[in-house]
Amino acid sequence: DLARDLTGRHVVVSAGGTREPLDPVRFLGNRSSGKQGYALARSAAARGARVTLVSANAALPEPAGVDIVPVGTAVQLREAILKASADADAVVMAAAVADFRPETYATGKIKKRDGQEQPPIALVRNPDILAELAGIAADRPRPGQVVVGFAAETDDVLANGRAKLERKGCDLLVVNEVGERKTFGSEENEAVVLGADGSETPVPYGPKEALADTVWDLVAERLPKNS
Ligand code: C5P
Repeated sequence: DLARDLTGRHVVVSAGGTREPLDPVRFLGNRSSGKQGYALARSAAARGARVTLVSANAALPEPAGVDIVPVGTAVQLREAILKASADADAVVMAAAVADFRPETYATGKIKKRDGQEQPPIALVRNPDILAELAGIAADRPRPGQVVVGFAAETDDVLANGRAKLERKGCDLLVVNEVGERKTFGSEENEAVVLGADGSETPVPYGPKEALADTVWDLVAERLPKNS
């Protein structure tokens, strides 16, 4: 049954955007709503998959029949993804993960001081979860697992996307052009899905559900056959 083509599979989806706390009242965040990741989770569940949705700060209704793991920061998201993906057939990293986090967390609210022009905030790199999952070609931690990344680009979308796919080592990369009506917070999306095999699948402007279904079509083609 084509409509239930993910039956017997476990898939892991990250959604939303991480928040990296500076002090009890402030964080470094981003504009990801989580809608694309939630659409991916709903679509996979409808196609028969067991779904773990690692959700970073998304204020969205919980999809029925999906295991939700709420997280806040990139480090928490990494822990949850590594745990959930141990037995996963596919992992889709739709979350917007902060590249940097504050080096220290101030337990009291950071104060501005007279004459101080630069805030005393140092940042350190966060782990790149997608690159860690994908490994470089031959040393994928779990061979056969299909690993999918997302990239939001503002210029040279295809060239930057292709370079990013190679750098991260993932099987598929969904490249979005960030624009006025598109992507962040919107119900619609427009993308090109790049494959490590050189394929390019354009997905016309439309509901995030349609992009989700195309992603699972491409993942399903790449899954090792059920034994
Ligand atoms: O490098 P960039 O942030 O553009 O890559 C985006 C992709 O990498 C997304 O799939 C995102 O979930 C993932 N990512 C990650 N860990 C990071 C940064 C991004 O897994 N620290």
